[in-house]
Amino acid sequence: MNILKFRNDEDFVETGANLIISLLQSNPKAVLGLATGSSPVGVYARLVEMHRKELVSFSKASSYNLDEYVGLPVNHPQSYRSFMNEHLFNHIDIDPARTHVPDGNAADLKAECLTYDKMLEDYGPVDLQILGIGSNGHIGFNEPDASLSSGTHVVDLLEETREANARFFHKLEDVPRQAVTMGIGGILKARQIVLLVRGEEKAEAVKNALEGPITTQCPASLLQSHPNVVVLLDEGAGKWL
Ligand code: GLP
Repeated sequence: MNILKFRNDEDFVETGANLIISLLQSNPKAVLGLATGSSPVGVYARLVEMHRKELVSFSKASSYNLDEYVGLPVNHPQSYRSFMNEHLFNHIDIDPARTHVPDGNAADLKAECLTYDKMLEDYGPVDLQILGIGSNGHIGFNEPDASLSSGTHVVDLLEETREANARFFHKLEDVPRQAVTMGIGGILKARQIVLLVRGEEKAEAVKNALEGPITTQCPASLLQSHPNVVVLLDEGAGKWL
């Protein structure tokens, strides 16, 4: 694991963006695994800026997002599809048909999960997976539990996760109770994983994930078993390392 701690935001963002840009320069058809959340926002903004300057193209790339809320209309401002459109897809030259976010409104969610995994199987593996981490150690929406699912599945969100995400909604009751998420097995299939974490409220989760025992009670700790992980932390998130 390559752990990098940054004192300033600029360097954090630039390092994250450069990993993606150099991948696309060597492999324009790269398969990107993308994540939502506040931690990757700066990196996406930098990619948009570099694309505007014609220093990177996504025209042959494709993307798969980790997760999506269940039951939130796709054009709801807090759906993960809207997030990705707003922060990245609408501003770069990626073919919209090659951007994939699980459909949290599918009539048959189980079938949707199987379809998503089949696509990843057929068109993957993901070359570079961007990840964030929840304060309870979740990745995607894989919540701490006695066991973890390997494939894409529907998950009941823990109250602590709903509360953490309530800041993006008017009130807690508006936060969906379920989500579709890629499973741990699917996430670990990526050739390279780039974990982006910002903020002191993540410091404990980061320490448990990187230095604690590998346990399903801290899903991010399973990243220790992956051969190619880069971790970018700001000072707050890296405080206890
Ligand atoms: C949500 C997403 C996760 C993300 C997490 C952290 O729960 N489902 O995939 O990693 O938020 O978000 P942030 O970067 O805002 O801390």
